[in-house]
Amino acid sequence: PHSFFLSRHGQSEYNKSLKIGGDSDLTELGEQYALDLGKFASEKICVDEETGEAKPARLWTSSLVRTVQTARHIPHPKIKHPETGRNEWIQMDHRIYRSLDELYAGVCDGMTYEEIEQMYPEDFQRRQEDKFNYRYPRGESYLDILSRLDPLVMEMESYREPLLIVGHQAVLRLLYGYFIGKKREDCPRLSIPLNTVIKLTPRTYDCEEERICLST
Ligand code: F6P
Repeated sequence: PHSFFLSRHGQSEYNKSLKIGGDSDLTELGEQYALDLGKFASEKICVDEETGEAKPARLWTSSLVRTVQTARHIPHPKIKHPETGRNEWIQMDHRIYRSLDELYAGVCDGMTYEEIEQMYPEDFQRRQEDKFNYRYPRGESYLDILSRLDPLVMEMESYREPLLIVGHQAVLRLLYGYFIGKKREDCPRLSIPLNTVIKLTPRTYDCEEERICLST
């Protein structure tokens, strides 16, 4: 079966200053990860490891600057059409989905957790108690994201080529949790670190998982 490759974007300016949300650029470290991910994709995703030939693969990012920047060194190999085998050339298809954008924190967008705790102590507490259902004022909850991910999951399940998704912490927790069969309430606390590609290969009831840390 085909595999899914999940990766968070490289470190962003907001990650560095511990702020949530926003639409900031990558830091120098984040840029380095973008290069490493490009190399990984060209060696492990876009190429058939046995024959060394380019093979069809798909790339999805969110619409935010940090995922698009992280994906910019990923090659888009030209390949022979997989079905006809004729000299038709197709390209790795890069799709940008707003439904992959990070959890929107509403009035808390751009704040640090410390600032949120000071300004909105009750909200902060409520989120600790029920992270899955908690909705930021004028923003989203994990449950809200789940509904916008539904159509994407259906699409993922229909693919026959490897797919690389460059996304965000909350969104990837839900996608990952879904594919490995976690209860949805447990997803908000799953670990999806930076600088790591998670390779999931579907089996009948769950997925085989491999984590590849790319930090150099
Ligand atoms: O800090 C990075 C980030 O992607 C934020 O933009 C987002 O609000 C947060 O992670 C989601 O993680 P948590 O649900 O643990 O706050």
